[in-house]
Amino acid sequence: MDNSKLKNLLETHKKGFALSQPFYCDNEVFDLDVKSIFFHEWLFAGHVSELQEPGDYFLFQILNESVIVSRDFNKKLHAMVNVCRHRGSRVCLEKSGNTKRFTCPYHAWTYNLDGSLFNARLIEPDIDRSELGLQKLAVEVFHGLIFISFSDKPDDMTDLKSKLDPILSPFELSKTKVAFKKSYRVKANWKVLIENYSECYHCSSAHPEFSKSHVTHMSSEKAQPLNALMEKRAKVAGVPTDFVDCIGVNRFDGQPDYAYNRYSLYDGYDTGSEDGMAVGPLLGNIKEYDGGASDLYIGLLNPFLIYCDYVAVYRFIPIDKDTSIQEIIWLVRDNADLGSETAVDRLKWLWDVTTVSDKCIIEKNQEGINSRYYKPGPFSSMEKYTRLFVDFYLERLGSAK
Ligand code: FES
Ligand SMILES: [Fe+2]
Repeated sequence: MDNSKLKNLLETHKKGFALSQPFYCDNEVFDLDVKSIFFHEWLFAGHVSELQEPGDYFLFQILNESVIVSRDFNKKLHAMVNVCRHRGSRVCLEKSGNTKRFTCPYHAWTYNLDGSLFNARLIEPDIDRSELGLQKLAVEVFHGLIFISFSDKPDDMTDLKSKLDPILSPFELSKTKVAFKKSYRVKANWKVLIENYSECYHCSSAHPEFSKSHVTHMSSEKAQPLNALMEKRAKVAGVPTDFVDCIGVNRFDGQPDYAYNRYSLYDGYDTGSEDGMAVGPLLGNIKEYDGGASDLYIGLLNPFLIYCDYVAVYRFIPIDKDTSIQEIIWLVRDNADLGSETAVDRLKWLWDVTTVSDKCIIEKNQEGINSRYYKPGPFSSMEKYTRLFVDFYLERLGSAK
């Protein structure tokens, strides 16, 4: 996109208002989104329980890129681009598995689990093979959560890790496992998905199931007494209730946005389930149910919702400017027995039913945005995080000029 078009778009944005139509509908904006957001930010790629043994691997796919995330024989994790250094074929075709080496299906070059080239058949001896490994990407593991970045200079996670480490420790997220995953294909620009996820202004009208159990659809004044009671219970239960807000203006330069906040569920709800009853064993060192839920952000593209007995991880993957995937990954304690279909149904019920209705409202939102009559309106106070997301987005686009 030429600089003057971008400058004009950024200048015409009215602070505190929704984004204008081109931000959602213009191909050049989408290309810039991909470059400045998705190929810069840390992206949640998966959980360590998916790579338990040496040789375990899975593929992480976004737009034209396929990334192999593997564990080598020294137990070290690697992320590498799934593009052969010979003539560019995809090297690994299986979505996940266990292997000693990756063999390209085209001319059978083979790569080690760390991406280095093991063998290239009949290649002239004077070719430097050490230069022909798969291209490596930045990878960080934090409490069992694996993040990758396509950036040559990814944001520094040091402060985030030291601040969030004591808060996350009681949950022992590294000792969880993936119980279920589901992808929802949504006919909307990726930003409409995140904007929707970031506010609960819509919850009381769109999510009756969610609103029965979570106080986030209320104003903060109304929720305050319930939160005060939850804090007392959390202390006994050993659940951190710290408030961390390093987002937007509070973000440190060169570091990802991050945040943590715990809030109350309604009386009678131990967790985010249909009947309020537990859906799995308590996580980590938590002693009892505090009737709360935590919002955790590690970068604004990676929200986690932590109950006492499970975590719902959200992932937003663009397909093109008009289509995105909203994916949920449910994590439970590693020794949880969710053998029966009923147990998994109970676990996923709330966020499945909520996401199905979100898909509907998001798609209707996008249809309206596509109209020639669309005009951005003002955010309410309950859309604080959507507004922060929009500010974050515009700042990243501005610095990509
Ligand atoms: S493209 Fe991979 S070996 Fe030829
Ligand atoms: Fe929603």
